[in-house]
Amino acid sequence: MFSIKSQVESGCLTSVPPKYVFDKSSSNCISSEAETIPTIDVSLLTFGTPDQRSKVIQDIGNACRDWGFFMIINHGVPETLRDEMLKGCQSFFNLTEEEKKEFSGKQLFDPISYGTSFNTNIDTSFFWRDYLKVWVHPNLRAPHKPAGFSETVREYSKRTREVASELVRGISESLGLEERYIEKTYDLEVGSQLLVVNLYPPCPEPEVAIGLPPHTDHGILTLLMQNELSGLQVMHNGKWVPVNDPPPNSFLVNMGDHMEILTNGKYKSVVHRAVVNNKETRISLGTAYGPPLDTVVSPAPELVDCESYGSAYRGIKYRDYLVLQKANHLDSKSCLDRVRI
Ligand code: OGA
Ligand code: NI
Repeated sequence: MFSIKSQVESGCLTSVPPKYVFDKSSSNCISSEAETIPTIDVSLLTFGTPDQRSKVIQDIGNACRDWGFFMIINHGVPETLRDEMLKGCQSFFNLTEEEKKEFSGKQLFDPISYGTSFNTNIDTSFFWRDYLKVWVHPNLRAPHKPAGFSETVREYSKRTREVASELVRGISESLGLEERYIEKTYDLEVGSQLLVVNLYPPCPEPEVAIGLPPHTDHGILTLLMQNELSGLQVMHNGKWVPVNDPPPNSFLVNMGDHMEILTNGKYKSVVHRAVVNNKETRISLGTAYGPPLDTVVSPAPELVDCESYGSAYRGIKYRDYLVLQKANHLDSKSCLDRVRI
């Protein structure tokens, strides 16, 4: 399967090929209100006074409930490491197709996979993105090229995992649970971490193609960063809110499907999509945190409200959920519908 990068660089694409035309008409309403995704100073979780800490936990709870997305600042991941990681990813995609070939045609649980669109075996229209996916925890096998990349991936994964753990503790408390409840119940310390790097080359007709169609993410939560170009849009109150000017050195955090399951729907996994532009290549890097692959995630009994409906989701092994998601169209109804009771 040809990468979209190589097709764009061949210089032959003056319009979007039919296979890449994506019909956005069913939901394409862009929010005109000046709404901004909340920003959370996560350093207050660790270094704040008790009052600041409880305030930030409350803010996290509100952001999770009202948006399912928020930005974090003062997270402690050095800017130099973020830059190095972006450069490393760029250099990976800049390897020749021949050099990247050993990572392509891989299966869902292979340690490293390089490809295009989402699942080219079933995608009815293709997405304007190439990807690199690396399972970075509990076992890391990062690409051995370009030189030095695997060390950067290792360090970046470790540092972002620390931030994610801190956030999960804050989220646990925001739900009225013990700080370590979520990480202990779902074994997050030995959990899975999947790094997904998306490369969106410039597109001659950005309005007729899509980088990533509307979808939700699997896992507990995702941390996302990008190069200087925006493209992410978040569904909020039935409209798309573009994430245009994230604060410098921030990460975007979003709740995953397994957060929705374990909170019994209190914190929803929110639909988002990536649009493309006709100017420059956009790169985004997501790291998804989840439990170990064989852990069954079901609603935490403490969060099942007996007076109302009881459990709203059936338990499912993380591994089986991932298989289910991959076998479905990414932009079809959320895979969560398969586990709703
Ligand atoms: C993803 C994703 C958004 C972006 O990788 O799941 O939603 O902005 N990426 O690239
Ligand atoms: Ni996503």
